[in-house]
Amino acid sequence: MAIVVYVNGRIGGEQDAVISVLDHGFLYGEGVYEVVRTYDRRPFLFERHLQRLRRSAQMIALDVPFSDADLADKVRETTAAFFEHPDNRSVADVYVRVLVTRGVGEINYDPSCCGQPSLVIIVKPLVGLPADVYEHGVKVAIVSIVRNHPCSINPLIKSNNLLNNALAAQEAYRRGAFDAVLRNYRGEIAECSIANLFVVKDGHLVTPPLEAGLLSGITRGFVLELCPGADVPVEQKVLRDADLLNADESFLTSSTQEIVPIVQVDDRPVGDGRPGPVTARLLHAYRQRVREMTAPV
Ligand code: PDD
Repeated sequence: MAIVVYVNGRIGGEQDAVISVLDHGFLYGEGVYEVVRTYDRRPFLFERHLQRLRRSAQMIALDVPFSDADLADKVRETTAAFFEHPDNRSVADVYVRVLVTRGVGEINYDPSCCGQPSLVIIVKPLVGLPADVYEHGVKVAIVSIVRNHPCSINPLIKSNNLLNNALAAQEAYRRGAFDAVLRNYRGEIAECSIANLFVVKDGHLVTPPLEAGLLSGITRGFVLELCPGADVPVEQKVLRDADLLNADESFLTSSTQEIVPIVQVDDRPVGDGRPGPVTARLLHAYRQRVREMTAPV
């Protein structure tokens, strides 16, 4: 397999995908990004991702000098180049990471010294999770790293500055967990390092509200929309450790992972330690809806 990358107007392989060391994205993590996956080789919920990319950019006063149509074209061209590559013919679906950074400037924090923002689009094969993960679920660890205070790097910004998330994930990996659960500065549960979090108690689905300081996940929103049709009552409510530890079921959501059952929190099983019926119902509804939305017309 060969990854294909667009960098500021040029599409090429990994070797050609270079960016200046003076880009403020590299120097300071000043930039925003989105991760989209394809189904049937077409980006899923792409408009929602574009909207969030613009919201994130606005929140760091970063101008995105491309129209939505332009961005869609560039993603389409890069994805097409990926599938045309002889090494990639057998790839079914791809992971697409779109990054916009402040651009190249002096080594100082003044954005007015930067030229054009940089645009990078990375397309690589989508490596889905093994079926086993959906069947048996995963373990998460409640970590000591605290999710950013909204007055720091607001978690609503899908920022390239991911050190806090990386540290949280690495703490979880050291403890043998699939992902980390981060609390906010008030000690409430916020989300995972790379996904949103839900719990089920007595048939009711609950996820923390955005005010708890978390990314407004596209998959989170999509799952909330699926709930009425799947007959699952849902609310957004503050969650604490005890709510997760005493839940009947729990799962995490993200664009690339869909809905992953959580069956263990640190050393404690969630419910009976197996993926539960509400999680299974929502995963089924999710995949069904994806099929409907991506079916050829
Ligand atoms: N991350 N929370 C965080 C901190 C995330 O990084 C992500 C996604 C999510 C889920 O968002 P969505 O449903 O829009 O994918 C929640 C992507 C997948 C990533 O960084 O790779």
